[in-house]
Amino acid sequence: MLNLAILISGRGSNMEAILKTIRKKKIPANPAVVISNKPDAKGLRIAKKLGVKTEVVDSQDFKGDRAEYDKKIIKVLEKYGVTPENGLVCLAGFMRIISPEFIRKYKNRIMNIHPALLPAYPGLHAQKQALEGGAKYSGCTVHFADEKVDHGPIILQSIVNVKDDDTEQSLSKRILAQEHKIYPEAVRLFALGKLKVVGKRTKLG
Ligand code: GAR
Repeated sequence: MLNLAILISGRGSNMEAILKTIRKKKIPANPAVVISNKPDAKGLRIAKKLGVKTEVVDSQDFKGDRAEYDKKIIKVLEKYGVTPENGLVCLAGFMRIISPEFIRKYKNRIMNIHPALLPAYPGLHAQKQALEGGAKYSGCTVHFADEKVDHGPIILQSIVNVKDDDTEQSLSKRILAQEHKIYPEAVRLFALGKLKVVGKRTKLG
């Protein structure tokens, strides 16, 4: 069975959505470990409550050295059997840039979720960027991670209308509700072997 690791930095609501979908037996995957780069991430407590092992690889200790930090993460992944052969790594609000070494080792086995319709508005404060850009639609994207930030073959997207009176908070809330649907679905499709990356595209089916 697919061995899943989820990497978080904070709240962990996407992680929770994935773990709860697995618990309902809707995804054939083993939730092997949740890893946080922050010792006080709220999501760590949620993962423990759901009976999933947790680890902290504190990024405070690795200022600047991305590849060294990611080596520590890979060690933890190996400890829990999340390998490039049978594993999947889900970035769920993991606010760090991943090194090319890590991306290459787990090629097309690292997924990310982003609160915008990529390739629009990558990076921080995507919802604010959409509002300031005057977008009528935004949404969220699950994609395989490549060497650029919030970039790589798109797996699923969900569209959200931007309302005239939206604030960053109100828009983020509606986008987040969609994130909680498409991230578990993308993991399910992966676990069933239904995703195939061809060039820059992900083919479903
Ligand atoms: C989510 O909105 C996710 O899309 C975003 O961080 C939030 C994490 O929330 N990720 C990015 O902006 C990546 N560039 P969560 O911890 O409750 O899942």
